[in-house]
Amino acid sequence: MKGIILAGGNGSRLLPLTLVGSKQLAPVYDKPMIYYPLSILMLAGIDDVLVIARPAEIELYRRLFGDGSRLGMRVEYARQDEPRGIADAFLVGATHIKGEDCALILGDNLFHGAKLPTLLRRTAAELRGCVLFGHQVAEPERFGVAEIDAKGRLVSIEEKPERPRSNLAIPGLYFFDDTVTDIARGLRPSPRGELEITDVLRAYLAEGRADLVWLGRGVTWLDAGTHESLLDAGRFVRDIQHRQGISLGCVEEIAMYMGFIDAEACHRLGAEMSASPYGRYVMRSARSHQLHPAPDTILGE
Ligand code: G1P
Repeated sequence: MKGIILAGGNGSRLLPLTLVGSKQLAPVYDKPMIYYPLSILMLAGIDDVLVIARPAEIELYRRLFGDGSRLGMRVEYARQDEPRGIADAFLVGATHIKGEDCALILGDNLFHGAKLPTLLRRTAAELRGCVLFGHQVAEPERFGVAEIDAKGRLVSIEEKPERPRSNLAIPGLYFFDDTVTDIARGLRPSPRGELEITDVLRAYLAEGRADLVWLGRGVTWLDAGTHESLLDAGRFVRDIQHRQGISLGCVEEIAMYMGFIDAEACHRLGAEMSASPYGRYVMRSARSHQLHPAPDTILGE
């Protein structure tokens, strides 16, 4: 399965922070925002990822991840010249997907929860059609919204409805089978001029091929696309890291636990950053993995 991280867009809700920089490189506490969505794809078992970004910022992402080999992965880059909507990712990324299944994650979405890694791996392994997730939120009108019937089956999908039919928001993480590129090619821009991800999901739903998976209370979902939510996300990460002595979105550690790299390689990556608490954490994690190689909670329940 291929992965796509959409890191394009103008980040206009974060101005002036985004005047000369990409939103998805903004710090969420101790690391660039994009580490968090990348770590989610990795936990789903994906080691082949396309990063889609604005032309001016592609080189910055390349500086972060290179060709991915340091993490035991393959990372490629594609430019999105204009922000044409989320579903444009399938057109920009068509040659990367090359008829395989894919997971798309938005570069400003953060997820945390013990059951998540298992859920992601199962979703990837059992995918038929498309899978979207549902997460209860206080302000559903800010998001794509899913309506479900009494049996929990998906009934309708709406993009930022004025009067939401439920409080179940659709986070920016989706799994699609190999028909997604053809579906995206058939889309017309919405009234706001974008190729909407909700129209892709609706096309699957109309064919009876869309599954909604409820994330439940055990999973936290945050987006970091506004000043408030960016600060909230940073605080959330800081609080958990300080309290539990773990790191969220630590791509070197996850690469090691997923078996993409060995503990020695992980330790070397940490050592390059040993002047920072992050680097020292990576080194400690590599050493403790060598001593106790049994999987721990990073891979889920
Ligand atoms: C996008 C999607 C929306 C989804 C949200 C998740 O909205 O259009 O369906 O719920 O991401 O973050 P945006 O935040 O880009 O306006």
